[in-house]
Amino acid sequence: MKTIDIIHDEHRALASILQALRFLLNEIKAGRREPDFKLLAMMVDYITRAPDAIHHPKEDDVLFPRLRERSPEARALIDKLQEDHRVGYKKTVELIQALIHYQSVGAPAFDRLFAEAQTYLDFNWQHLNDEEGTLLPLARRDLTAEDWAEIDAEFAKNFDPYAGAEGEFGELFHQIVNLTPAPYGLG
Ligand SMILES: [Fe+2]
Repeated sequence: MKTIDIIHDEHRALASILQALRFLLNEIKAGRREPDFKLLAMMVDYITRAPDAIHHPKEDDVLFPRLRERSPEARALIDKLQEDHRVGYKKTVELIQALIHYQSVGAPAFDRLFAEAQTYLDFNWQHLNDEEGTLLPLARRDLTAEDWAEIDAEFAKNFDPYAGAEGEFGELFHQIVNLTPAPYGLG
């Protein structure tokens, strides 16, 4: 599979869990659904661990350095995206803490989780849009055929897509889909 396809697949899988989390929290906020802490924990587990484990290393170590060389126009954006990867960790901790607090004290702590989740989701949404809408088009335009051959070979070594049937995160992804209520899941 080619680099761009792998990135699209991983973004799509992440985006679908982000959307499902937003849906679930909106349902709880509206009083239509009781919190399912197992499902909330699985979603947060996935979105906070899978990108750093699978996705960001490929971007940070393989795609970004080569594009930085080839595309002066992409450099400022790459700086921002790499900073996002770094500060994303702090937002992750805040989201996890808010979820634990909600599970610990119940309804009075929901608003904090809801607010932290909105911040987290908006941040990740912007990041995905920057990569899909601006970075990948620049990569398509400025990388050479030789660049792509080398990058594809590196990506192929670490090909464990979020949505894949094998591997820890593929399994977690499918469990989340099975538990998430329609229309975002099969539950
Ligand atoms: Fe990405």
